[in-house]
Amino acid sequence: MNSEIVGIGAALPSKCIKNSQLPRELNTSDEWIFQRTGIRQRYLAAETETTASLATVAAQNALLHAKISTNDIDLIIVATATGDYTFPATATLVQKSLQITHGAAFDVSAVCSGFIFALDVADSFIKSGKSQCALVIGAETFSRILDWSDRSTCVLFGDGAGAVVLKSQSDKHRGIQSCKIYSDGRFSDYLITSGGISANRSIGFVKMHGREVFKYAVEKFHQSLKELLKDNELKIEDVDLLVPHQANSRIINKLIEISGIDEKKVLITVQKHANTSAASIPLALNEIRDDVFSKRNVVLLSMGAGFTWGSALIKF
Ligand code: UT7
Repeated sequence: MNSEIVGIGAALPSKCIKNSQLPRELNTSDEWIFQRTGIRQRYLAAETETTASLATVAAQNALLHAKISTNDIDLIIVATATGDYTFPATATLVQKSLQITHGAAFDVSAVCSGFIFALDVADSFIKSGKSQCALVIGAETFSRILDWSDRSTCVLFGDGAGAVVLKSQSDKHRGIQSCKIYSDGRFSDYLITSGGISANRSIGFVKMHGREVFKYAVEKFHQSLKELLKDNELKIEDVDLLVPHQANSRIINKLIEISGIDEKKVLITVQKHANTSAASIPLALNEIRDDVFSKRNVVLLSMGAGFTWGSALIKF
């Protein structure tokens, strides 16, 4: 069996903050943020909005789009680094909100690469026959782990959730053709929180060596794209849509330059959402969800803390 995406949905917090609305004490500017990152605004969760509540709305929207009932869902995977609680898994909270009482629900932790890691797990469950229909969700409230006095990180991130419904089907020429995930823990210090449950019993704040992360993001994006094309006997011209993780438009433009892909085929949404970590790819897909289904070869690329990175080729 093969798995295919049959529905896409998203959810954003109600509060949208433009660069010019950031606290004056940060001593930043719309000009600096936009020139260095392409970001114009970000959505930030209110106290009543959580990763699970955003993930639930994204999942409901994806189910509506797919015209699939919650009864058909036998697997829920939430990719997140900002779950509601230390435990239980945020996926079980989503399961509860959707009133699903069968199947399995668990989280995947691969930070900005989380959505592709979760997609790979769900695809493997479907290919092995363990699951028939899965919800794969990327959801984050990074605003809760930002140091709002550190302008080098807090302006870069936003909150949100995106979801896809993944369904089993028998046509091997459609759906997820390949999904590859990678990690290299030697780089774990480059993008890390200053705290954690077992390290120091705290949540911690995001700490990043921006320049190093930038350099490796370009390298890993390009390396995994080349590998994906080779494995699937495709040329760069064969790619109809490329959806990279949305951290910085300069990283994406560098990838466009070195890979030779036509820039019109590359989706950039970072200006609207900032970096939403695991939510960025499904949120981007949701922006063009009706067009996505008319594309033949769609490539997803991610890179994040760990380092972790990954790629997926989907035929619609
Ligand atoms: O999702 C995981 C992946 N994450 C990423 O991909 C992020 C990768 N890294 C980046 O996107 C970029 O490295 C940043 C956007 C984080 C930073 O851009 P940069 O061109 O590498 O800037 P920088 O860190 O070298 O800082 C340049 C200057 C510094 O001032 P001085 O020391 O040159 O006087 C910073 O203090 O910009 C200053 N700066 C700011 N100025 C205004 C840093 N943040 C800000 C700010 N507003 N928000």
